[in-house]
Amino acid sequence: MGIKITDKVTWVGKIDWELRRFHGDEYSTHRGTTYNSYLIRDEKTVLIDTVWEPFAKEFVDNLKKEIDLNEIDYIISNHAEVDHSGALPLLMKEIPHVPIYCSANGAKALKAHYHEDWNFVTVKTGDELDIGENRLIFIEARMLHWPDSMFTYMTGENILFSNDAFGQHYASDLMYNDLVDQAELYQEAIKYYANILTPFSPLVTNKIKEVLSFNLPVDMIATSHGIIWRDNPAQIIEKYLEWADDYQENQITIVYDTMWNATRRMAEAIAEGIKSVDKDVTVKLYNAAKKDKNDIITEMFKSKAILMGSSTVNKSIMSATAGLLGMIKGIGFKNKKAAAFGSYGWSGESVGILTEKLKEAKLDVVNEGIRILWNPDEEGMEKCREFGREFARQI
Ligand code: FEO
Repeated sequence: MGIKITDKVTWVGKIDWELRRFHGDEYSTHRGTTYNSYLIRDEKTVLIDTVWEPFAKEFVDNLKKEIDLNEIDYIISNHAEVDHSGALPLLMKEIPHVPIYCSANGAKALKAHYHEDWNFVTVKTGDELDIGENRLIFIEARMLHWPDSMFTYMTGENILFSNDAFGQHYASDLMYNDLVDQAELYQEAIKYYANILTPFSPLVTNKIKEVLSFNLPVDMIATSHGIIWRDNPAQIIEKYLEWADDYQENQITIVYDTMWNATRRMAEAIAEGIKSVDKDVTVKLYNAAKKDKNDIITEMFKSKAILMGSSTVNKSIMSATAGLLGMIKGIGFKNKKAAAFGSYGWSGESVGILTEKLKEAKLDVVNEGIRILWNPDEEGMEKCREFGREFARQI
């Protein structure tokens, strides 16, 4: 069922309340998500994006209740990823000749996904489409977060259809930023940025500056996931500028995995040492094997320093920490201090391996780490506290 956004724009997307994993198993969606699609009825009728393939039939059936499909003049594909293009094959069976406006990279990606020779019209930044009273202006947004990504701006209604940018994996029937729980919204927006957009932060800053330089009034930012920003939409733009600028809070995150709790006890003693030097710093501890990996990445994103700990197992590190270190390397955090710790029984390689992997991830490793044989006694715990105190002084 469509939901009217303005006289001319109707939301025709899908709320996916059940979704708990996205991008395969790479991203957790504790609060589900939405696939936002928008129908514009001006003198011309335009559909912006579709939904993920499992909902294709439902989407097309609902769209038919909203409009005769033959009245659609143009389709805009802001982004070829399947969560937005997944209903195109079914839709295009019904209206095969309708032009699909997308970036040149979008046309390549859509062809490579669906192997169909649809009527692609490629556009670039500044190109416009006259739809009657209003115009649509296209703005390429390469690598935010795919090479094909673009925004579409609608004059008159002053809506920026930003696709993934400024989105959140957040299922809600309330539609707008001012109506939903603000803490939930913030949590999902920062998690989305931390996990998906951090690698592209320099591009985020440049793209926002470019869009702002066009001096287009923005009354709404209609994203492709989550709520529509209508109450002070500039607030999420300001947040993105802040997050893109090597964001950090006064927080240290300690992440570890532990076989028999010795490394956990080390983590807690290190935290105690840090707090004894700096009472104001927030220290958060997570067991990498027990805590959601994307939530850990979000906490790391907020941190000025990261401590990674692992027992030595089979001359290596525990798999949950290895997985996270791989994620950190790909995400490319900047301007964060780091160090390693861990317990061992005989060979004791974990701290050296963690230290090397933290360096490979371009974190600023401030020391060679600390390792404790077997389970720390009081002297070992005091060494960990002192390690924490020294770490706090170093950062
Ligand atoms: Fe929501 Fe990049 O797709």
